[in-house]
Amino acid sequence: VFIMKLLVILLFSGLMTGCRGNSSYSLPPKLLLVSFDGFRADYLQNYEFPHLQNFIKEGVLVEHVKNVFITKTFPNHYSIVTGLYEESHGIVANSMYDAVTKKHFSDSNDKDPFWWNEAVPIWVTNQLQENRSSAAAMWPGTDVLIHNTTPSYFMNYSMSVSFEERVNNITTWLSNSNPPVTFATLYWEEPDASGHKYGPEDKENMRRVLKEIDDLIGYLVQKLKMLGLWENLNVIITSDHGMTQCSENRWINLDLCIDRSNYSLIDLSPVAAVLPKINITEVYEKLKNCSPHMNVYLKKDIPNRYYYQHNDRIQPIILIADEGWTIVLNKSSSKLGDHGYDNSLPSMHPFLAARGPAFHKGYKYSTINIVDIYPMMCHILGLKPHPNNGTFSHTKCLLVDQWCINLPEAIGIVIGALLALTTLTCLIIIMQNRLSVPHPFSRLQLQEDDDDPLIDL
Ligand SMILES: *[C@@H]1O[C@H](CO)[C@@H](O)[C@H](O)[C@H]1NC(C)=O
Ligand SMILES: *[C@@H]1O[C@H](CO)[C@@H](O)[C@H](O)[C@H]1NC(C)=O
Ligand SMILES: *[C@@H]1O[C@H](CO)[C@@H](O)[C@H](O)[C@H]1NC(C)=O
Ligand SMILES: *[C@@H]1O[C@H](CO)[C@@H](O)[C@H](O)[C@H]1NC(C)=O
Ligand SMILES: *[C@@H]1O[C@H](CO)[C@@H](O)[C@H](O)[C@H]1NC(C)=O
Ligand SMILES: *[C@@H]1O[C@H](CO)[C@@H](O)[C@H](O)[C@H]1NC(C)=O
Ligand SMILES: *[C@@H]1O[C@H](CO)[C@@H](O)[C@H](O)[C@H]1NC(C)=O
Ligand SMILES: *[C@@H]1O[C@H](CO)[C@@H](O)[C@H](O)[C@H]1NC(C)=O
Ligand SMILES: [Zn+2]
Repeated sequence: VFIMKLLVILLFSGLMTGCRGNSSYSLPPKLLLVSFDGFRADYLQNYEFPHLQNFIKEGVLVEHVKNVFITKTFPNHYSIVTGLYEESHGIVANSMYDAVTKKHFSDSNDKDPFWWNEAVPIWVTNQLQENRSSAAAMWPGTDVLIHNTTPSYFMNYSMSVSFEERVNNITTWLSNSNPPVTFATLYWEEPDASGHKYGPEDKENMRRVLKEIDDLIGYLVQKLKMLGLWENLNVIITSDHGMTQCSENRWINLDLCIDRSNYSLIDLSPVAAVLPKINITEVYEKLKNCSPHMNVYLKKDIPNRYYYQHNDRIQPIILIADEGWTIVLNKSSSKLGDHGYDNSLPSMHPFLAARGPAFHKGYKYSTINIVDIYPMMCHILGLKPHPNNGTFSHTKCLLVDQWCINLPEAIGIVIGALLALTTLTCLIIIMQNRLSVPHPFSRLQLQEDDDDPLIDL
């Protein structure tokens, strides 16, 4: 009986949640996806973010987002909007070379659709829906004709456009467009730039930079409130990767191991992409024991857990530096912070915070994968996701319209119910015994209506 009641209560609370916010369900759902480049997950614990913490209080926080290897900017931003590992979406580095077409890709030479067309980003899918458009205040790929489509509203990439201008223009597009903008992106270069310059262990400089970012978040929220977008807009604030401290005492100089004429270097550090000009095995042999702080892999031997193998743009040999080590040519690095390392390192992980009608309020969750964001965004926008490597159920606990009972909670409920049931039964037996003591024929009576009290429950 008790369990039945519990079930009924659970059912009702579920129905109530389902019915809540009738008005917000009748409008088309809208989503703004924001990235602050290089926002390492534990900055949130180690620095103060009054505006961001207010945002989180009214929404959800995922403390660690496990990103994809290599933990670089373009690859991870494209994984967020496609749900694919790098080998499957084709943006396998910030610097690439395709041996068949002899094309080069870099962050300043990225507009050839060839590089992007192996996947379909969510802003393209969103625009195939009737009466919907997408807008972008920058995000890698949003100024490229991917599958012959750009967002209806976008900016060409330029780091000299201020955050305020990006916010002003994206919020104008979100308020005034017809057909309405239902998916929008906003990208900002910090704290990545300062993380590289000072290193994440420079507390004083990082505190200053991170306070500036929190003020920018304050500006964004204020703007959304002023324009009446705040209540019905879903906002995700996340990032592509973290940052770790580097040092000139941790350099790996390739020139000490192999002659430059023997190979081309497609990408340098911390994951070097090596295209041999002589026998591959020979190059591999020269590099294999170059440094104890660097793993050297032939393409076929790259560990499966990286999902970084099955693409022509991944070069025949890759070198992966240990955390905090930098691969250099004849001493040539001034970076005090870097990223790109093994994606299982916590220092490489970003966080995710989200708020709006689709999200719970005041919910904390320890971890999801960066590829899980895409199916969640498709769900919120009512889009059919393309095949991807994410898992929708990982994000169910963040969403108001999903059932979410995790295993510990479920066990807790069952144990709780059993305890309550046992206690009640004991109480009833004790009370019956007490009541029955004065009666001379208690035994007989007890036998008669033995089961009644339990049925009444
Ligand atoms: C749903 O929203 C509409 C308009 O916002 C309102 O008129 C209506 O009463 C609401 N229905 C319920 C059941 O809350
Ligand atoms: C799209 O918008 C037009 C005009 O606003 C409207 O007539 C049409 O029903 C809309 N289509 C859908 C699928 O909402
Ligand atoms: C972006 O740049 C291209 C080429 O420079 C130009 O033709 C185009 O109009 C620009 N688009 C926007 C939205 O500024
Ligand atoms: C932002 O909008 C203003 C006003 O429409 C426009 O003049 C400006 O060029 C836009 N900025 C960018 C970077 O597109
Ligand atoms: C490879 O490097 C060696 C020196 O280690 C040099 O003698 C040789 O000419 C180089 N081969 C090519 C093809 O550049
Ligand atoms: C490369 O060198 C290895 C041994 O040094 C040899 O067994 C192999 O046949 C060579 N491969 C080519 C393509 O020359
Ligand atoms: C390495 O640096 C030294 C001094 O800066 C220079 O003389 C030398 O030519 C460099 N070697 C290469 C291979 O660039
Ligand atoms: C990732 O997803 C793509 C598209 O469905 C698929 O082709 C690929 O095999 C997946 N990768 C893994 C490792 O499952
Ligand atoms: Zn980045």
